[in-house]
Amino acid sequence: MDDEVGEAYARRAVEYTELFGSMDAVHPLDRQLVATWAGSLHGAILDAGCGPGHWTNFLTELGYSAHGMDLVPAFIERARTAYPGISFRVGNLNAIYLESRTVAGVLAWYSLIHHKPDALRVPLLELSRILSPGGELVIGFFVGHVVEKFDHGVVEAWRWPVSDLCAELVAAGFDVVETHVRTTAGKRPHGAIIARLSNRGGGTHRL
Ligand SMILES: C[S@@+](CC[C@H](N)C(=O)[O-])C[C@H]1O[C@@H](n2cnc3c(N)ncnc32)[C@H](O)[C@@H]1O
Repeated sequence: MDDEVGEAYARRAVEYTELFGSMDAVHPLDRQLVATWAGSLHGAILDAGCGPGHWTNFLTELGYSAHGMDLVPAFIERARTAYPGISFRVGNLNAIYLESRTVAGVLAWYSLIHHKPDALRVPLLELSRILSPGGELVIGFFVGHVVEKFDHGVVEAWRWPVSDLCAELVAAGFDVVETHVRTTAGKRPHGAIIARLSNRGGGTHRL
């Protein structure tokens, strides 16, 4: 699955960057949500699945310590060129290279949408592992009435009801803090969830 997703984005990296690799392409409410969230954290932020790195740069320009990671080397090369003062590294959400409990926040903006539903627990547990106690995760995703696959354009992706994704987060050891949904004519419904590492103990692997 990682190979398929990585290869599909590698083929479209230039096009993706032109279309979406800028904060101008991001809805102002999403910028505001992430900026406010980042301001509540105390420590480093991982932009997990950073693509061309525009969110990592946005967070850095706001004064936060942000690091970008993505599966696709072409995105990481582009991010390093565009934002030379920022640290970016190729990596996989399913086996993150960071030590446990080392980041205060993780931004996973549309980077978990390609995980098959029965494979999502793996990156969520990885994110819960690297977060410090009280650390928080923001997920951006496509909202649907049921969990279903759709043709995303680059490679297959899944849309999720907010309640189902929240249940996945709880099972992976998070408490849901906020949920947001936005519907705009002609666009796929958008969702965002802020979740905090729970102090009730770690999450569990799918049985
Ligand atoms: C829809 S793009 C979003 C990119 C960026 N976060 C943004 O908002 O423009 C999905 C990104 O997730 C990355 N991605 C998907 N699966 C990944 C994985 N297992 N590990 C790391 N990155 C992954 C892709 O390479 C791609 O850059």
